[in-house]
Amino acid sequence: MASAGERPYLNLIGGEWGPATGGATTADRNPARTDEVLATFPSAGREDAARAAEAAAKAFPGWAATPMPKRGDILRKAADLFEQRLDVVAEALTREEGKTLGESKGEVARGVSLLRYYSGEALQPTGDVYPSASPSTFLYAERVPLGPVALITPWNFPVAIPTWKVAPALAFGNTVVFKPAELTPLTAWHLTDVLDKAGLPPGVLNLVVGRGSQIGPALVESPPIKAISFTGSNAVGSRLAAQCAERGIKFQLEMGGKNPVVVLNDADLEKAVELTIQGAMLSTGQKCTATSRVIVHRDVLSGFRDRLAARASSLKVGDGMKADTYMGPLVSADAEKTVLEYIEVGKTEGAKLIAGGTKLVGGDYDRGYFVAPTVFDRVRPDMRIAQEEIFGPVVAVIEARDFEEAVTLANDTRFGLSASVVTRDLGLALRFIREIQAGIVHVNSQTAGAEPQVPFGGFKGSSSGTREQGKAAREFFTQIKTVYLDPP
Ligand code: UN1
Repeated sequence: MASAGERPYLNLIGGEWGPATGGATTADRNPARTDEVLATFPSAGREDAARAAEAAAKAFPGWAATPMPKRGDILRKAADLFEQRLDVVAEALTREEGKTLGESKGEVARGVSLLRYYSGEALQPTGDVYPSASPSTFLYAERVPLGPVALITPWNFPVAIPTWKVAPALAFGNTVVFKPAELTPLTAWHLTDVLDKAGLPPGVLNLVVGRGSQIGPALVESPPIKAISFTGSNAVGSRLAAQCAERGIKFQLEMGGKNPVVVLNDADLEKAVELTIQGAMLSTGQKCTATSRVIVHRDVLSGFRDRLAARASSLKVGDGMKADTYMGPLVSADAEKTVLEYIEVGKTEGAKLIAGGTKLVGGDYDRGYFVAPTVFDRVRPDMRIAQEEIFGPVVAVIEARDFEEAVTLANDTRFGLSASVVTRDLGLALRFIREIQAGIVHVNSQTAGAEPQVPFGGFKGSSSGTREQGKAAREFFTQIKTVYLDPP
């Protein structure tokens, strides 16, 4: 395996590994030690994106005609190769993105499960047979591929999200242009490399590392591309959606969240604190499913807030490669700047800081983007820190006088990805499940997490209304052909 310095990492277009047109490169840096460059990658531009789309178009007829079980075999082989490489990929993930090694191992294992799951999907029915009004007609509806698709993925789950897009796209017979986040190309390279080694024909999967602002629009405008699946910010997502609508191609967007944990007055407070901390601070709060608001019943507020502040202040922050680290750095200087700005906004708005609130400095902290786990108390629902996605280790405590108000507050957001309630009362849990406007609901578990076999996605501004993973991936990555077949 290549490591930094041995040989350059390259893009994959039409089965050939190569540099960017014009030779531009980008350095893949460690956010915990910004002086450490993990690898050098091509920085592709519009021309490379267009070439990748052409390559995907050329490969499409052959791949669509490849029997589905054979496509599944390749995914299963890739799963095995990925599993053999688990430790190497997990280390790359921690070093380029910052999350702890334990989280990275979990994520790569999730990637392996996703590849296995979609290798199994390749043996599932591809349509339905219907009764026809005509006695001689064989009437059926079959799911067929869309064509070449572009997958634009974020840096925060640089293994899981690409895998849950690439694997179903390929299983259902599409060819792919994969545009990973520029901050995390090494994990993307590993995923592409195992799929290539597992036997994908040339052009079926193309990797283009480069500037999102260049490659994203180039892919959306590229005539061969028939669908876009995107995970990232709302700002970029809505622009992409408008462009896709204009071209009349299918799109799928997974975007922000402002996910609440609701703590009712019968909750086990230790448990409520633990779930809030996990949801808010793991991956340094950089998940669209992260907990960013905790809405607490007035009766238990003082006990809960003291415990939460103490627990947040006790978390060990540092390089994710160290065994005792609970929370790693933010991914980049920009991310750190945004989070620190939001902390200032919270203070100015009059929320009360009860943990963290600062950049960590001194010793190894000076080498990376470290911000202390931060808890704001006395947050009012109309404050910006209660409404806008911060994407960092910051959680807002909001008081509710009863269950009804807690649910109203939980729903008072333009987002609707995930939500959690902590209670021992089954009746209230069921009411919460009914009344909450969220695509993913947790009862007594944290707001983050996603198993491969179930639909994933949000209500309201969190998604385009489509879902990913499980059977939902088939909805997106196929189109339906209805056939009226009569004997000659
Ligand atoms: C998870 O919670 O494990 O970008 C997955 C994100 C989500 C994935 C969350 N699309 O954070």
